[in-house]
Amino acid sequence: MFARSALKTTTLRSFSTSARAERKVAVLGAGGGIGQPLSLLLKTDPLVTGLSLYDIRGAPGVAADISHVNTPAVTKGYEQADLASALAGAEVVVIPAGVPRKPGMTSKTPQNTNASIVRDLAKATAEHAPQAMVLIISNPVNSTVPIFAEVLKKHGVFDPKRLFGVTTLDVVRSSTFLSEVQGTKPKDTDVTVVGGHSGVTIVPLLSQTSVAKGVQGEPYKALVKRIQFGGDEVVQAKAGAGSATLSMAYAGALFANSVIRGMNGEKGVVTPTFVKSPLYEDQGIEYFSSNVELGTSGVEKIHSVGSLSAEEEELLAACLPDLKKNIAKGIEFVKNSP
Ligand code: NAI
Repeated sequence: MFARSALKTTTLRSFSTSARAERKVAVLGAGGGIGQPLSLLLKTDPLVTGLSLYDIRGAPGVAADISHVNTPAVTKGYEQADLASALAGAEVVVIPAGVPRKPGMTSKTPQNTNASIVRDLAKATAEHAPQAMVLIISNPVNSTVPIFAEVLKKHGVFDPKRLFGVTTLDVVRSSTFLSEVQGTKPKDTDVTVVGGHSGVTIVPLLSQTSVAKGVQGEPYKALVKRIQFGGDEVVQAKAGAGSATLSMAYAGALFANSVIRGMNGEKGVVTPTFVKSPLYEDQGIEYFSSNVELGTSGVEKIHSVGSLSAEEEELLAACLPDLKKNIAKGIEFVKNSP
């Protein structure tokens, strides 16, 4: 699955010259719907040499199971009281801890539960793995990334190059949905998605993809809507049993693989991710997802959104005010926290 292939944001890759680098990954929330398949996929990534699986319940069992897979990553599970040990020495911390949404909720619905979980995990990360690359999956990403950043700032260890909101599922869905419309192969159908990670804050830049040529009018609107609200299809189909877990695990493993390839010195690893960004700072928007080049220290270069169609300008205009509110909500949450 981690075969060498053309550099695509939707394809998992290995990078042979650096495969020997030690890369320990901690998964916080490893016992959950996303955490379990994500941990399994990370175990199959040849670039991952160590796996710390932590959850408030069930992680040792998941770790025992996954550890039997005959790949190099040394895998260990940690109980609730062992968060410090789980984080010790981790270079990459992936966080799918939280509660998933139910039918009727949107992924930006303010969830104090997730906000508190992320705040507490940020505190532990600041204390035990302050140098790690942190990949936030817990929703609402538009708010949980600012929450994590504010806690790191309180501890004096915030490095904006090392904190990422995982928006890869939007990229993966765009690729799949567009290829369905156009009859192309998903792996040849890369789409840049910018903005944030919920509803109208998700802005797919279809005009920058030659594969999307000719998709106009109602089919264009339907495709954009499906990309923005793709998560709803899963929430409804699971009928109260949770939200996207398997596709999210795939997307999370893909993004972690990209981050590690960048850390290992591979050049030209570029993918959308939600980071502290200068692009719309003049409008009071501190965090934004756009194509980011990943390097040995994390964020190497933040790309601008590039040229937009008139429709994309409209989508962006709808995204920015919402995104601004979501970010402010996260920052406010930490200000009001003990
Ligand atoms: P789940 O309920 O199946 O799993 C969550 C896991 O987190 C559980 O095992 C739980 O014990 C654990 N947990 C709770 N508090 C914890 C803590 N303080 N420390 C460590 N672990 C803790 O939920 P699921 O479906 O895996 O979703 C997890 C999160 O991911 C949710 O916030 C969900 O909204 C989000 N999500 C994000 C997506 C994205 O694209 N970024 C896509 C889909 C879901």
